[in-house]
Amino acid sequence: MPTWPRYSYDGLPTGPAADRNNTVVAADSQANVRVQSDACHTLGVDNISPNINLNVLKNIGYPVKASDEPTEKYEKIGQVGEGTYGKVYKARSKVTGELVALKRIRMESEKEGFPITAMREIKLLQKLRHKRIVQLSEIMVSKGSVYMVLEYMDHDLTGVLGHPEFRFEPAQAKSLIKQMLEGVAFLHHMGVLHRDIKGSNLLLNKKGELKIADFGLARIFQKRRTHDYTNRVITLWYRPPELLLGATAYGPAVDMWSVGCIMLEFFTGKPVFNGSDEISQLEIIYKIMGTPDETIWPTVVDLPWWELMRPKQPLPAKFRELFARYVDYEVLQQCFLMSDGALELLEALLALDPSKRPSASDALKFPYFVAESLDTGSPANLLEITGDWHEYESKRKRKSGTSSALNGNGDVKKASVTDKR
Ligand SMILES: Nc1ncnc2c1ncn2[C@@H]1O[C@H](COP(=O)(O)OP(=O)(O)OP(=O)(O)O)[C@@H](O)[C@H]1O
Ligand SMILES: [Mg+2]
Repeated sequence: MPTWPRYSYDGLPTGPAADRNNTVVAADSQANVRVQSDACHTLGVDNISPNINLNVLKNIGYPVKASDEPTEKYEKIGQVGEGTYGKVYKARSKVTGELVALKRIRMESEKEGFPITAMREIKLLQKLRHKRIVQLSEIMVSKGSVYMVLEYMDHDLTGVLGHPEFRFEPAQAKSLIKQMLEGVAFLHHMGVLHRDIKGSNLLLNKKGELKIADFGLARIFQKRRTHDYTNRVITLWYRPPELLLGATAYGPAVDMWSVGCIMLEFFTGKPVFNGSDEISQLEIIYKIMGTPDETIWPTVVDLPWWELMRPKQPLPAKFRELFARYVDYEVLQQCFLMSDGALELLEALLALDPSKRPSASDALKFPYFVAESLDTGSPANLLEITGDWHEYESKRKRKSGTSSALNGNGDVKKASVTDKR
């Protein structure tokens, strides 16, 4: 694989992450939680009454152990993630020896209660049983904390891409891109928008399998109608232009843009659209993909912030020029960064007009998968990576300058909103 110059993560602006819905479900006590009724509504959870207790968690289909202290059943091995609402630990079952991830949902205080994002995630994971979606096995409640017990995944994509030596071969990148699309196709088929697709939410195991995680921003969407949803979703670097221009009626195409950004990252080794705020994010997108106008995106003029953020001057698309090939200065010759098929699919996924982006199932039918080399060799050499590589460990290692892995995460800062759509 050509060695595209890798950028250092150090010193890069930290992209503001997706705005998590900070609405909480007030807790009366350790075992009793009260949901704000409007929150129930936005969850699309018709059967949650304003007053719920642990039975609600039981009724949504999981074994809930109210009295179990997770440490009695699981031995914590180390921290692998730090999310908005708590920490994620690698742990081993004392009964079966099986590795699990314990995602602790922090309950800041009993008054604040149970975060609606966690409720959303639990409800959705229950419906989403698929080999490309991380599986939730049980929920444990102890001392004011709720733990989601998830199948353990050795790495996340951000962690592996940040590994100082490991590089994917093109066939392995193709296998993982295919697996990501299979997962997204399943989600969209089930009527779910993920709304936070990014490297740290794409988990990998040593067998080379990819699974989608983190459903805290996900929601059910109406397939036939577009709705009034919040546009404060998706981590900035992976946020599509329509959301940056204020769209509130959107659908699966928002996830497809993020998928395109991730696919590009497989080739460049780092996020390409890396703005520090919404305006610079749009500027970077325009510089690479060209500026939109009514001819290439007829409905752009209807978007709320179009006039406000209108490009000052028209810019041509430079995507092919930038990514089709590059000069390897060591041998002073032009090298291909990606195949024609990869370029074609990427250009389609990164279409400015969301209606022109392929669906996940259509993307899987592109020549990149069906005509070019069919050998999508599963990245078995993930087995060779020593230690576990999640964003948490990678960031810690970069900060401390050490190279020992948990064997841990640190995600970009979260802004908070009260918008529940
Ligand atoms: N099942 C798992 N196996 C291994 N690691 C995991 C698992 N689930 C999550 N992690 C790690 O923990 C990190 C944080 O988890 P997750 O994204 O689910 O939490 P979050 O609080 O919703 O995160 P954030 O708000 O930071 O996006 C992930 O990026 C990943 O590195
Ligand atoms: Mg996450």
